[in-house]
Amino acid sequence: MPTWRLRDFRDDDLDRAIQIWDQDRQDDDMPPVFPVSEAMTSARTGGTVVVAVVGEDLVGMAVAQAQGERAWITLVALARMWRNRGLGSALIAEIERRLRVQGVRRIGALLAPGATGATALENSGYRTREGLTFYEKVEHLGASDAGLLAELGGRVLPQGLWGALAGMEREREAIERRIVLPLAEPVLADRYGVTPPKAVILFGPPGTGKTSFAKAVASRLAWPFVELFPSRLTEGATGGLAASLRDTFAELAELESVLLFIDEVEEIAGVRSGQAVDPGHGVTNELLKLIPGFRDHDNRLLICATNSVRSLDPAFLRPGRFDYVIPVGPPDPKARAAIWQRYLGPAANDIELHRLVSASEMFTPADIEFAARKGSHAAFEREVTDRQGAPASTEDYLAAIADTRPTLTDQALTEFREDIEHHARM
Ligand SMILES: Nc1ncnc2c1ncn2[C@@H]1O[C@H](COP(=O)(O)OP(=O)(O)OP(=O)(O)O)[C@@H](O)[C@H]1O
Ligand SMILES: [Mg+2]
Repeated sequence: MPTWRLRDFRDDDLDRAIQIWDQDRQDDDMPPVFPVSEAMTSARTGGTVVVAVVGEDLVGMAVAQAQGERAWITLVALARMWRNRGLGSALIAEIERRLRVQGVRRIGALLAPGATGATALENSGYRTREGLTFYEKVEHLGASDAGLLAELGGRVLPQGLWGALAGMEREREAIERRIVLPLAEPVLADRYGVTPPKAVILFGPPGTGKTSFAKAVASRLAWPFVELFPSRLTEGATGGLAASLRDTFAELAELESVLLFIDEVEEIAGVRSGQAVDPGHGVTNELLKLIPGFRDHDNRLLICATNSVRSLDPAFLRPGRFDYVIPVGPPDPKARAAIWQRYLGPAANDIELHRLVSASEMFTPADIEFAARKGSHAAFEREVTDRQGAPASTEDYLAAIADTRPTLTDQALTEFREDIEHHARM
């Protein structure tokens, strides 16, 4: 005789419901059509839910989502020792009763063959429809994530940013092999004992492409990109910088996947002065404390960028926190050629690229982008007055180069080489 009791869902059932669902998931071969997060959201926001309890213990649960005359059963979960005892059918009978009152006349369920609930549905008069194919497209962002992401000022970046980065083979390869591949192929990585990175630092002179690489990684993984601006942390925070940082990390934890980018991280993780009143001190400590929690979640990556890795707090750089510390250096001639080519577009065919490459020796990618724009613009302005149909020439770009102050200096390069020696880890 049934010893269970059916009742409404309460918010404090959630933990136990997820545990039960987790058992089912381990026993089922295929992932469920309706992810548990969806079923739980609908359970808490007016979906139709029935739970079964034995004493105080939750042993089963069914969730349905109704719209007009149609409803979908999105979850049937049964505690392991209560399977094959009629509990599934009892839950379904009760959920049907509740749906009927709402005017529902057709109830469907999409289950993998043999999944929990399949037998109960068959015993409850559900007919299978053969020959249908289930089509699904997963946008990486759940509806609940979208609002949260907007709040965090994050967004999903377009595809193809990785491909838009020209040259920089060394950096590209290091980032691809260390970061992108293990995160993009987690199952394979796991099989080979490769642990995907959770946090990395990119360092190098200004304008070498650190931010661009971080965005390109998010674009490759199709993960939302959230940038944390140290300077904006205080706004509206009651407990100061540290509290505001904590709040941000708490919100991030709710996203299914995320790439968190902190630019100019030395602003919040600089060497601590040791003075008790040092305002940066608390926030550095807070960030140090938050990183382990961040590392505990799957599907997230923290990328910190800095022009000045030497000014970071040594505790911050310790291996347990960051998996890799990767230099993003000045472009070599080959990289400069590729970057020139990228910014000149088809016009590059009529240009003596090698002359631009040698004239732009101390240029960063950002400087090249700037000079390329300037050269194109000069040629365009000339044409507006002359109307001679003359294309932009090598001389136009050489003039633009001469007119652009390179970012790189001998001192910056020396320091960068020292930084690689002392801090790079990859
Ligand atoms: N490999 C590249 N190919 C083409 N353009 C690039 C490349 N790297 C950087 N750029 C361009 O250079 C500009 C500066 O790049 P980015 O902002 O990524 O550099 P950064 O290292 O983050 O600089 P900063 O240290 O100042 O933050 C961007 O407009 C970007 O599009
Ligand atoms: Mg940047």
